[in-house]
Amino acid sequence: MHLLEERKAFTLFLCFLKCISTAGVKNSVHNKAVMIGEDATLFCDLTATQENTSRVVWQKQTSENHQPETFFIIHKDGRTEHRDLQDHVRFVGNLMENNGSIQLMGLKLVDDGIYTCIFTINEQQAQKVISVTVLVPPVGSVMGSTHVSGAFSVDLASCMASGARPAARVFWRLGALNTSLNTHTSSTEHSDGTFTVQSHIYGVPSKHLHQKKIQCVVQHITFTEDLELEYQINVHYPPDLVIISPDDPNNPAEAEEYHCEVDCNPTPTYIWKRMNESEGRAPRYEGNKLFLPKSSVDLNGVYICTASNQYGSASGSVLHVNLTGCSVFRWCILGVIFIVVLCSSVVLKYSSGRKTCGVLIKKQGRT
Ligand SMILES: *[C@@H]1O[C@H](CO)[C@@H](O)[C@H](O)[C@H]1NC(C)=O
Ligand SMILES: *[C@@H]1O[C@H](CO)[C@@H](O)[C@H](O)[C@H]1NC(C)=O
Ligand SMILES: *[C@@H]1O[C@H](CO)[C@@H](O)[C@H](O)[C@H]1NC(C)=O
Ligand SMILES: *[C@@H]1O[C@H](CO)[C@@H](O)[C@H](O)[C@H]1NC(C)=O
Repeated sequence: MHLLEERKAFTLFLCFLKCISTAGVKNSVHNKAVMIGEDATLFCDLTATQENTSRVVWQKQTSENHQPETFFIIHKDGRTEHRDLQDHVRFVGNLMENNGSIQLMGLKLVDDGIYTCIFTINEQQAQKVISVTVLVPPVGSVMGSTHVSGAFSVDLASCMASGARPAARVFWRLGALNTSLNTHTSSTEHSDGTFTVQSHIYGVPSKHLHQKKIQCVVQHITFTEDLELEYQINVHYPPDLVIISPDDPNNPAEAEEYHCEVDCNPTPTYIWKRMNESEGRAPRYEGNKLFLPKSSVDLNGVYICTASNQYGSASGSVLHVNLTGCSVFRWCILGVIFIVVLCSSVVLKYSSGRKTCGVLIKKQGRT
């Protein structure tokens, strides 16, 4: 029988099946996956036979080099002969026990390939085929840029699992956004046999997507658990609706401070203006806040807040009316009504302070 006429892996395999029956090799074709950098022991023995091995030849085929090439020989007396991979392979078996196992140390990507060990026993040959896959974990990353709100779908972000072997699986967990976002995944093979998988996420950059969190998931044979990479969508959009609210919403007539609020990104700058700004006291403005101290009837009027960022601006207005500047608003109103009814409008001149107001009320009580 021509047991070593093999030229191709398939032939090797067929031959190997015959070898099993003739020489008693127990193991079948083995697939061995080993993490890059680790050591790999390639087990090869013929312990079932009583005969003594005269030598073991190790051959290797790679995806580039389909011809099996001898890289290591173990002689009957235990002497070893390197043809290749000198510092990289060592004999760990024992020919007395028909054990021709070797160890590949510090696996590199180039060690990926099909290994064959060939025993020579009494002029007959037997062999075993081990397919070694070198595993490389991916490096995961997620990135994206800020998008200006618009009507057309854009590439919002991308997730990458690079330099992995075999290729990693990359997908997105979108939650409730799964209906508004689309994904596209592609894979690139590098010359060293590693893969980079990239998954893009597309969607219309609306302000509703701003600060929404999505998750990219990378799965790989070398991972004990999924690698989860969070991404927060960032959308820039102009101010829309300006809302001006008093510091105490339950008592707007006594407001001393108004806040201008607007939804936009990035943060706007605020400009306050008083309608028909005339002479007299100027109120104090600070960012989105307008300060109108009590007892400041002369500051009554309409105030306009304009919020702007680089994408646009929006305005809102508030009418500030402080009748007397009293803190006890109801009492003042009462006082004012009382004065209007009982006295003449001249009295109004005096009701410009808390104390005056109190006096007026007392006067009302006595009357
Ligand atoms: C195998 O080798 C051992 C020791 O070298 C020897 O005693 C034995 O007879 C040999 N067996 C055969 C079948 O040649
Ligand atoms: C062959 O040698 C290896 C390395 O020493 C060992 O781990 C393995 O168990 C041996 N095989 C048998 C069948 O004894
Ligand atoms: C979106 O997610 C919901 C559950 O969160 C699921 O029921 C639905 O089938 C998903 N739709 C798509 C298009 O994946
Ligand atoms: C403010 O000024 C405008 C014109 O600049 C005028 O039409 C309007 O009547 C004024 N309003 C008040 C309350 O004075």
